[in-house]
Amino acid sequence: MAYGDYVVMRDLNFDIHRGEIFVIMGGSGCGKSTLLRHLTGLLHPATGQIFYDGVEFTGADDHDRNHMLRKFGVMFQGGALWSSMTLAENVAFPLEEFTDLSPEIIRETVELKLALVGLRGYEDFYPAEISGGMCKRASLARAMALDPDFLFFDEPSAGLDPVSARRLDELILQLRDSLGATIVIVTHELASIFAIADRALYLDVTTRTLGGLGSPNDLRAHSPNENLRLFLNRGVTVLRGAHDPATGSPFAGLPGSHQG
Ligand SMILES: Nc1ncnc2c1ncn2[C@@H]1O[C@H](COP(=O)(O)OP(=O)(O)OP(=O)(O)O)[C@@H](O)[C@H]1O
Ligand SMILES: [Mg+2]
Repeated sequence: MAYGDYVVMRDLNFDIHRGEIFVIMGGSGCGKSTLLRHLTGLLHPATGQIFYDGVEFTGADDHDRNHMLRKFGVMFQGGALWSSMTLAENVAFPLEEFTDLSPEIIRETVELKLALVGLRGYEDFYPAEISGGMCKRASLARAMALDPDFLFFDEPSAGLDPVSARRLDELILQLRDSLGATIVIVTHELASIFAIADRALYLDVTTRTLGGLGSPNDLRAHSPNENLRLFLNRGVTVLRGAHDPATGSPFAGLPGSHQG
């Protein structure tokens, strides 16, 4: 992956499994958003290919490519809603743009998607009239409008308080279970990584390549990559401070969780 002559990451060889929650993690500026932009077709790899269901995405012609894009739901970093539209209008937009569904069906679909993220009854609210956490959930509803097979979220819980962030994680787990979608999430928030990731990929900014791939617990305990171990262990103390142990921290019983 490169911007002009500037190589962000090289030799990224990995598979994402159908139906898993796959986390892309790493420090700020390592290239997480850049990778997500490649996976969703906004950027083209300097070299290499990307396949979905065995079909090459990177070299596909417009017809095939649009067909594949229809299966994607994306929430970009900072994933803002359109402020001049109500939540219902925001979620309806992709349906109006990309389908021939009748207004009645679109209205029902919008209600269903908003209900799925716990926003039943907020159809006619504007983004400015609801909380940041509710905006994030509405963005998820919009990303899910077209019943995507693949969902991509860039830092969905950024800027949320720990409780709202945790609720969003639970929502993402529920969505995976109810939709059966494959979910790719960019995050550097340890609580989210340990709570939701089936597998996580670490982009190592010092070597500019893949620094590890596996279950977060395995990586934290056994990865030969010291940067990665530090990355995954850095938060134990911080997170102990951020979570009330009485609520059942996901770190209870893990190595090092008695510290701090
Ligand atoms: N449009 C662009 N043109 C040139 N360089 C860019 C562009 N976008 C990002 N970069 C550079 O590429 C690198 C990776 O950026 P990227 O936004 O992918 O990082 P990130 O891991 O998502 O960071 P963060 O955690 O802060 O969101 C950074 O060095 C950044 O400065
Ligand atoms: Mg980013």
